[in-house]
Amino acid sequence: MSFKDKLDLKKVPQHVAIIMDGNGRWARQRNKDRIFGHREGVKSAKEVVEAAGEIGVKYLTLYAFSSENWQRPEHEVKALMQLLVQEITEELDRFKKENLQLKVIGDLSRLDQDVYNAVQKAIDETSNNTGMTIIIALSYGSRQEIVNAVRQIAQKVKEGRLEVSQINEQVFANHLYTAGIPDPDFLIRTSGELRISNFLLWQLSYTELYFTKVLWPDFRKEQFFEAIYNFQQRERRYGKTSEQLEN
Ligand code: IPE
Ligand code: IPE
Ligand code: MG
Repeated sequence: MSFKDKLDLKKVPQHVAIIMDGNGRWARQRNKDRIFGHREGVKSAKEVVEAAGEIGVKYLTLYAFSSENWQRPEHEVKALMQLLVQEITEELDRFKKENLQLKVIGDLSRLDQDVYNAVQKAIDETSNNTGMTIIIALSYGSRQEIVNAVRQIAQKVKEGRLEVSQINEQVFANHLYTAGIPDPDFLIRTSGELRISNFLLWQLSYTELYFTKVLWPDFRKEQFFEAIYNFQQRERRYGKTSEQLEN
């Protein structure tokens, strides 16, 4: 029996975020170069998008490239960007047909023009879609996102458009790249690393975390459903007691 059959479709997390890690190690295990692993990882991403759609996830955030990943060897950065452009371009029709909306979070000013154009085209052409939202974290760093928000808020205060006393959690969140997107309910990280790697530091404050040793290229639909099943066994207490939640 598949984990999918065990799921309670009324308790599907609204927003799932994934740190897609382990492509390099997957390739090395097969004596291939890292790019081979990234290519295989794209297949996992496609399967997971499909799986998430099947069970009614509303927001799916995929960590594709961190601000720190710019430090990787130039040929790897190039290959990753190329893969991204290729996939976004190829998948755009499907996104439209299936009513998916594409969003990107990150510092897009660092992207090459062709990458930026491909990404922007897909964002624009899906912006009125009302189905699942796929959020790609690209050139994304959470600390940078937070500093950026602080700057924007400071600027508004300086210009007299905002009072210091008006700054609250909601106002702050509205200045993050993720403005308007609910916080993730569930975070999945593959490849056995037990860290957050500068991902959504503010947004994850009450997210349920799930770490699996499975390397990203091996993380397919069934592994995704298994993770969601795991999520459904948890109790989210938000500081309260179990007894309070029952009432
Ligand atoms: C994740 O796999 C993909 C990106 C970070 C772009 P890695 O490339 O980090 O794979 P490992 O961690 O080296 O195995
Ligand atoms: C995190 O993976 C970023 C992405 C999955 C895109 P890394 O492989 O870059 O993370 P660290 O540096 O090992 O923590
Ligand atoms: Mg890694």
